[in-house]
Amino acid sequence: ALVGKGEYRHFMLKEIYEQPAVIGDTLHTFLNPLGQRVRLPELPVDPGGVSRVTLTACGTAFYAGMVARYWLEQEARQPAEVEIASEWRYRAPPLADDGLVTAISQSGETADTLGALRFARERGAATLGVVNVPESTIAREAGGVMQTLAGPEIGVASTKAFTTQLTVLACQAIAMGRARGTISPEREEALTNALLEVPARAAEVLNHDGRIQRIAEWVAAARDVLYLGRGTMYPLALEGALKLKEISYIHAEGYAGGEMKHGPIALIDEGVPVIVCAPSTSPVFDKMAGNVQETIARGGKVVLFSDREGLERMGEGATACVELPKVDPFVAPLLYAIPVQLLAYHAAVAKGTDVDQPRNLAKAVTVE
Ligand code: G6P
Repeated sequence: ALVGKGEYRHFMLKEIYEQPAVIGDTLHTFLNPLGQRVRLPELPVDPGGVSRVTLTACGTAFYAGMVARYWLEQEARQPAEVEIASEWRYRAPPLADDGLVTAISQSGETADTLGALRFARERGAATLGVVNVPESTIAREAGGVMQTLAGPEIGVASTKAFTTQLTVLACQAIAMGRARGTISPEREEALTNALLEVPARAAEVLNHDGRIQRIAEWVAAARDVLYLGRGTMYPLALEGALKLKEISYIHAEGYAGGEMKHGPIALIDEGVPVIVCAPSTSPVFDKMAGNVQETIARGGKVVLFSDREGLERMGEGATACVELPKVDPFVAPLLYAIPVQLLAYHAAVAKGTDVDQPRNLAKAVTVE
């Protein structure tokens, strides 16, 4: 089927705006009709008896895996690791008995991710594919499949595939937690209710598009950008930096807030925007606030993505702020992905780059 841009200037913008709908669609395939319990497809392994989950992927899908590791560890108390596909398989690591290898890929055709899946299968590991294209090679070869219902993603830079991957991985973490006995029925209901609210909250975030565009026009003039986050916001910072590189051609680095003092703080000056993702509900919010104050004290120009309480508690001295809804920290990565994407999108438009077809990049990298 032909997919058009509709009223949107670029596929990327259209795909960013589709997120409330496709997150909802994806969620409803894993929740029972009443919404309170997560259903998993037939898994190639007993979800309560997995010794270690290995999440493997490339690019943006790798950052979805990084978020999932936090969820699996925190909610399911499930030992988990996340691995860049092209590194993991050539390291030839010993695989755990009763491990589960989860390959995450929008296209289901990325050569390195497919190679990692085959590496795991050849060694007898149980495998699961989180894919957007159901007829793809990874979907066919994985022992089990959890599909993201993002619909066709045309823009080379991944957006709605990322947030639907997060949706699926959140459901996987809840289901594994239930199977392992670490998530009570009440907790499961709270987490699924938080997920069910995401489409409406995501639509609210999109209302800040104009404000983010103005911030992006300022960021577009920078040569270097730092992105900071802690906890699940650390992978979001990495994703934000990747997006700026991919489509805006701005050199950007994502850093864990606590690592600032070990190097990047030397880069701080007024020419380097520092973008911070920091929901007040995060258990490490106060730590992140400390890192922001250190940055502002050194003349850094800070852009803050936070909720009202977070902005009140750490916004003083920031150059620009975007107020996001206050949500359960479990679902914050799904919402904070949106300003991160919009910032890169508008910076790219301001610079006049080819947003949907950035130079040197391919939508699916099917060669090593
Ligand atoms: C390419 C795309 C990225 C994507 C990555 C992994 O590099 O430009 O946006 O994240 O491949 O793609 P996959 O299809 O495996 O998710």
